[in-house]
Amino acid sequence: MDFYQVIKTRRSVRAYKRDEIPQDVLERVLNAARIAPSGSNRQPWKFILIKDRERKRQLAELCHHQSFIAQAPVVIAGCGRNIHYNRGGWMGDCSVIVDVAIAFDHLTLAARAQGLGTCWIGSFDNEGIKKYLGIPDDYNVVALTPVGYPEDDSAFCETQDRLPLQEIVFYEQWGKK
Ligand SMILES: Cc1cc2nc3c(=O)[nH]c(=O)nc-3n(C[C@H](O)[C@H](O)[C@H](O)COP(=O)(O)O)c2cc1C
Repeated sequence: MDFYQVIKTRRSVRAYKRDEIPQDVLERVLNAARIAPSGSNRQPWKFILIKDRERKRQLAELCHHQSFIAQAPVVIAGCGRNIHYNRGGWMGDCSVIVDVAIAFDHLTLAARAQGLGTCWIGSFDNEGIKKYLGIPDDYNVVALTPVGYPEDDSAFCETQDRLPLQEIVFYEQWGKK
């Protein structure tokens, strides 16, 4: 699938078929996260896959009752270790979130290329999920996503709901178009 077609048709999917994901397909998706770039190549991430029906249900509850999450055959939690990396700027403490987010974006795009839907979940109870999944103290949850085949093929329609380039791009200095 053409790269731009993947990007243009990656949408948040909130209804899933129960169909299982073949292991080789799942591994291709996970591999896309594995090879993502990270600051100083620290790769401060772990990915937890949850397939058990009851555990997915509990997890969806811990995502502020977003029950559609549990419909998908797999839920992935992306976790990052905060290394308090000091780059002398304000990015230091944010870098774990940036790193895991890049890897997770690779994952969601690779999933789309495999015909799989995802939905980035940023609304969740970090402490509750850490306790439930046994995540160590020095890690936090950065994002979760259900992964599965969309209930409806139209889920992959192109979005029109984005700001135009003229509104978000400046040249040479702030405000200059
Ligand atoms: C950081 C982040 C957090 C998000 N959290 C949630 C969430 O908790 N629940 C949800 O249903 N969608 C969530 N979304 C999905 C956004 O609502 C969605 O990406 C946005 O509306 C654009 O739609 P699209 O993904 O279909 O293009 C999140 C997306 C991002 C990037």
